[in-house]
Amino acid sequence: MKDLSFHIMDIVENSIRAEAKLIGISLVEDLENDLLTLQIEDDGKGMDSETMRQAANPFFTTKSEKRIGLGLALLAQATREAEGKFEISSRPEAGTRIRATFRRSHPDRKPLGDTYATLETLVAGHRGVDFLYEHRRGTDVTRFDTRKGECL
Ligand SMILES: Nc1ncnc2c1ncn2[C@@H]1O[C@H](COP(=O)(O)OP(=O)(O)OP(=O)(O)O)[C@@H](O)[C@H]1O
Ligand SMILES: [Mg+2]
Repeated sequence: MKDLSFHIMDIVENSIRAEAKLIGISLVEDLENDLLTLQIEDDGKGMDSETMRQAANPFFTTKSEKRIGLGLALLAQATREAEGKFEISSRPEAGTRIRATFRRSHPDRKPLGDTYATLETLVAGHRGVDFLYEHRRGTDVTRFDTRKGECL
């Protein structure tokens, strides 16, 4: 996966599969501290502590047709390549939050890619799901909330 937009697509697919009705995607570029944080939050069915512990293991999946589950493992790897960190927090019946932090200027930090096209595809493809998107870059903010009928 060459850019973070592909990862966003993939991580959001997990939220959809977990029957989320609201998915929050936030990208924060902290120029002062040279950090980039991607956070994806959902209100889906969540994970118990054992599933959460295993989730970023490439040999763990709850998809019955598969033996490996790469989505979280690949994003975790991308953070390690750019001096970042990766965190999952989840509670059954409450939801899941995935947070990936990168050193923004690190030469191996993946580019954002076309986040707008990614968001458009997600919104168009999942009419029953609401999306809240926020991209902060320094003091610049781009935001939309499909619950308010907003689009990009
Ligand atoms: N948002 C989420 N809500 C609930 N469970 C999740 C969520 N994201 C991941 N999981 C759990 O973690 C497992 C691993 O996720 P991961 O994306 O790494 O692989 P996968 O979705 O199983 O397979 P792949 O992404 O390769 O198609 C999933 O099978 C699921 O059990
Ligand atoms: Mg997945």
